[in-house]
Amino acid sequence: MAQFTPRVFSGVQPTGNLHLGNYLGAIRRFVPLQDEYPCIYCVVDMHAITLWQDPAELRNNIREVASAYLAAGIDPKKAIIFNQSQVSGHAELAWVFNCVARMGWLSRMTQFKEKAGKDRENASVGLFAYPDLMAADILLYRATHVPVGEDQKQHLELTRDIAQKFNNDFAAQIAAEGHGDAFFPITEPLIQGPAPRVMSLRDGSKKMSKSDPSAYSRITLTDDADTIQQKIRKAKTDPEPLPSETAGLAGRPEADNLVTMFAALAGIERQAVLDRFGGAQFSSFKGELADVAVTALAPLSAEMRRLRADPGFVDGVLATGSAKARDIATVTMDAVKDIVGFLRAR
Ligand code: AMP
Ligand code: TRP
Repeated sequence: MAQFTPRVFSGVQPTGNLHLGNYLGAIRRFVPLQDEYPCIYCVVDMHAITLWQDPAELRNNIREVASAYLAAGIDPKKAIIFNQSQVSGHAELAWVFNCVARMGWLSRMTQFKEKAGKDRENASVGLFAYPDLMAADILLYRATHVPVGEDQKQHLELTRDIAQKFNNDFAAQIAAEGHGDAFFPITEPLIQGPAPRVMSLRDGSKKMSKSDPSAYSRITLTDDADTIQQKIRKAKTDPEPLPSETAGLAGRPEADNLVTMFAALAGIERQAVLDRFGGAQFSSFKGELADVAVTALAPLSAEMRRLRADPGFVDGVLATGSAKARDIATVTMDAVKDIVGFLRAR
């Protein structure tokens, strides 16, 4: 198998309501990677429009995700921060992948089934083809590592299948063009960290999500201290006190979620949380959890607010990042065009 230079790619959709799950499962984990690998962090606005978006809100939300990246500590001098629609290679490679991926593969995607709901005939074609665009995002940069939350696992498996099939379908041309036995890497998902799946505060069996109709289901990155306290106070629990051992969290999804959130926000093990709160009632635990959440999120939301007041700066970061991304993307797309047999000016 050909060797690929390590490179990290990930993306977040600008669909508003950035929440604690996005932060703990993804954005916070992007930060230390920038010191280890070349990293590319994208605001995936083309994914966002698979469901209708108000244009003015979309523009705002693109800046919101970019501000969250910056506020979390991603340094645009170290990592590339940009928005997808400014680099045309994403759409171009997605089309090639629409012709590589099979209908059957995409029909099995659980996110499509969830988002399309019962009225599948009325879902956009883009919503169905979404995973091909995601594979294109990653493989346009021949990224080897992709940090995401647990919910993206199936999409990353599909990305690997697409890379594999492209490498097989075009093996002869790939070798003839001097790329060895594989043009695209088989990407490694990085689904790890203390909270790869943060659950809804209203229902421990559902993931925390931007689109839940209840604002009380999630803590957003722009919630103020009072709102965070209120949401945690109202979070669903069960009637038992907290257990003393992590094994006692089995079958108690809400308790499990709140303890996991505490551990992730305070940077300690779940057992250490239970060493402190085992036997306690939820009311006292919730007060402390709210404090930990406010302490962790206050600097982030303050910095996001500051950046949101300076859209010119954020737009500049995205423009500069897009130019850098385009340079890498062009090299890949030129090679892809040669491999599939498109004629291009040289
Ligand atoms: P999205 O909001 O779908 O654009 O997701 C952006 C990133 O956040 C992806 O890496 C997701 O896997 C991650 N993510 C979204 N929701 C959660 C959650 N509830 N818990 C952990 N990670 C999440
Ligand atoms: N599908 C991802 C989500 O909803 C967002 C995304 C798009 C992404 N392209 C990506 C994540 C490429 C990682 C890599 O969360």
